[in-house]
Amino acid sequence: MDLNAVLEKYGQTEVLRFFDELTKEEREELSRQLESVDFEVLSLPEEGKKACQERTEPIRAMSLEEIAARREEFAAEGRKLIARGGLAAVLLAGGQGTRLGFNAPKGMFDIGLTHPVYIFELLTKNLLSVAEACGDFPPFFIMTSEKNDAETRAFFEAHGYFGYPKERVRFFRQRMSPCVDLRGKLLLEGKGRLALSPDGNGGWFGALLQSEILKEFEKIEWFNVFSVDNVLQKIADPVFLGAALKSGADCAAKGVKKRDPKEKVGVLCLKDGLPAVIEYYELDEERANLRDEKGELVYSFGVTLNYLFRAERLGKIAKEKIPFHIVQKKIPCLNEAGELIEPEENNGYKFETLILDLVQKMGSCLPFEVDREREFAPVKNREGADSVDSARALLLKNGVKL
Ligand code: UD1
Repeated sequence: MDLNAVLEKYGQTEVLRFFDELTKEEREELSRQLESVDFEVLSLPEEGKKACQERTEPIRAMSLEEIAARREEFAAEGRKLIARGGLAAVLLAGGQGTRLGFNAPKGMFDIGLTHPVYIFELLTKNLLSVAEACGDFPPFFIMTSEKNDAETRAFFEAHGYFGYPKERVRFFRQRMSPCVDLRGKLLLEGKGRLALSPDGNGGWFGALLQSEILKEFEKIEWFNVFSVDNVLQKIADPVFLGAALKSGADCAAKGVKKRDPKEKVGVLCLKDGLPAVIEYYELDEERANLRDEKGELVYSFGVTLNYLFRAERLGKIAKEKIPFHIVQKKIPCLNEAGELIEPEENNGYKFETLILDLVQKMGSCLPFEVDREREFAPVKNREGADSVDSARALLLKNGVKL
């Protein structure tokens, strides 16, 4: 199809404003990038349509007390799964960590006080301790993006994979999607290069399938998928695994009781009768603030981004599309004069698929409560809530030497 006609149709011809200055190779490269853009996806949010409008109800979670009462039974079941090679760990490390203001992959952040303690190190050692106890090293898949792949690989290599067997570690890259300005026009990061950003964490399974890594690991029954920033989370937690297996659900989500209505966590609830997560920036004020007769938040199960997905069910839904969410961000881009700027205010939109939409597609999900003091220390910001300081305090409280 004629590229000019496509750009014309979608009102995107501005993207060619430096075309005359480009070399033949640069023109070809830009055309190649433009040909892979899904222009249908690049529409801006409609005013007032942002909040979730589906019919929702709160969901009942498996509580800390219920879990404690069956801890041994669950753990035994979970350990058996790991020992037979049925679990894979998937670290989502393709994000850009802009809120932390750290220019390298977030996992390379050193959270130590007296000696270096890297986030990647904490997460890997956590997995390692379970693997050693169960007698099998789950395959450890690390999702990166075009922007941080080389640095992440080199870091693991330089640190001897923090003691994890190298042959069990695989890296795979997520896809990228184009960014637009506040008017919806494509942004450039070079005169012949679109501003691209990782396309969200929802595409992890598609990207993993595309990488063909799974062909080497045929025994996988479950995936434990987790974020890079919760430095206190338990990975491949046998109790969580056992509870999921016994529940018969195809998916399970760790969650904490929300601290306050504004806490930036997705909320697991029932949407049109099925378990689903509403992301914090899509939850309307009314639902966020709703309280029951005891004064407790009604939508209170905040997911920590540590999920279990059953491989068989994932395989069945792999071809289904998941929606893109539109997020306002600060996006480095060229200004009118063709100079690269680092904006201080949000200047555009990114289009991201979110892992929580996979949860809904799974059809069933076990909400599994964890104690935030022991399992939830996300490093999102420099200071304040969910920061380096708050995570350090919790790590120390849990006996981790920093
Ligand atoms: C995330 C969760 C939210 C949860 C909260 C808990 C999503 C979409 N949001 O919010 O529901 O309550 O953590 O702290 O899951 N990532 C990629 N590629 C991308 C984008 C992100 O790999 O393109 C990874 C990041 O590296 C990180 C994780 O996904 O490990 C979360 O990313 P982020 O977009 O920062 O989500 P939060 O707003 O922190």
